[in-house]
Amino acid sequence: MKKNSIDIGIEKYSIYFTETIEQIKISLKEIINVYNPSKLFLICDINVYNIYKSFVNEMCIEMKAELLNICCLEEKKNIDTVSAIYDFLIEKHANRDSMVIALGGGIAGDIVGFACSTYMRGIKFINVPTTLISQTDSSVGGKVGYNYKDIKNSIGAFYNPKAVIICIDFIKTLPEEQFKSGLGEVIKYSLIYDKEMLNYMETNYKDILNISYRSLSYLIKNCVEIKRQVVTEDFKDEGLRNILNFGHSIGHAIEVDSHYSISHGEAVALGILVALKISEGKFNLDKNLYSRIVNLYANLGIRLNYDISNYDEFMNALRHDKKNDQNIRFVLIKDIAKCEIKVKVTEDEIRTAIKESIEGDS
Ligand SMILES: NC(=O)c1ccc[n+]([C@@H]2O[C@H](COP(=O)([O-])OP(=O)(O)OC[C@H]3O[C@@H](n4cnc5c(N)ncnc54)[C@H](O)[C@@H]3O)[C@@H](O)[C@H]2O)c1
Repeated sequence: MKKNSIDIGIEKYSIYFTETIEQIKISLKEIINVYNPSKLFLICDINVYNIYKSFVNEMCIEMKAELLNICCLEEKKNIDTVSAIYDFLIEKHANRDSMVIALGGGIAGDIVGFACSTYMRGIKFINVPTTLISQTDSSVGGKVGYNYKDIKNSIGAFYNPKAVIICIDFIKTLPEEQFKSGLGEVIKYSLIYDKEMLNYMETNYKDILNISYRSLSYLIKNCVEIKRQVVTEDFKDEGLRNILNFGHSIGHAIEVDSHYSISHGEAVALGILVALKISEGKFNLDKNLYSRIVNLYANLGIRLNYDISNYDEFMNALRHDKKNDQNIRFVLIKDIAKCEIKVKVTEDEIRTAIKESIEGDS
């Protein structure tokens, strides 16, 4: 088990990497010894609970933690679930010295983190992410929140956990679609920051698909390190942190156009293809990179095509993406690890790029 210390602004917290689920308890005990909370609570994604019931129940007994299971669908990432968490904490007499463990994917981490950021003006929490997206991305960087009136993550805060515990074993029970979704985000990290990781994925795609500990551990640790560097420099998302949105504007519009039948990471993966095509036009990006990425998607079984069902709504979603002002602005790349943020892009350029990529024959 290895521990990384993360410094973000004036705050500092540890990221633990464990190979087996049993080792999580060792990390937890270490953290609890440091903070000595008056009461401990475990708030768990119900799907994760159903798969890991005996582990969760044992942990609650051993750690004397009170358990609440929550439903972690995107449509339940709302104020009702936040209220249910407040009700539970009030009923169980949680106070400012209490500590909450969030166990689940990005939805659990975001919503439990938000409830903790506001309950009694902030109580301590530990994030134990269980999906590839949450282990590589959402558990690090302090963004917590929920969807309001169907606008994704529109209510939120910057609030860091006291620790993050990443256990790769959880990935083994992820549905295939969710695993592929996470790989979309990992490819994003490689394009915006890390040439070596892209080479690694191209060479080791079979190991990755077999969820080998060696390959997953390499990818997750690299992504966490990239995110650490980016959010340390720009915690409040005022500049550099924008690069993490590569592929996301189109991705978000695809999620909306597909009525969320396309998962977040898959939509981002499709958005990356469009962003690469626009980057070719705007910055003369080497066309070989697009072919490499298409080839990598094919090897990893990531979706390459998507037909927009309603262009007007799609463009509307793009314009209303909170990352855009009235102009449509994208993160583009000039080369691997050379990003340009807030590049103005016209609707015509977007349509052309879509026709040449995800609606084309690739
Ligand atoms: N805070 C951030 O910086 C940030 C960054 C990226 C994404 N997000 C948010 O994260 C959410 C997406 O996260 P996600 O992809 O982890 O989705 P998720 O939390 O919805 O999890 C995906 C599915 O996998 C299930 N699941 C979780 N762990 C499992 C496991 N180990 N085995 C089997 N099933 C498991 C869940 O119940 C769910 O059905 C979105 O709401 C997005 O807005 C936040």
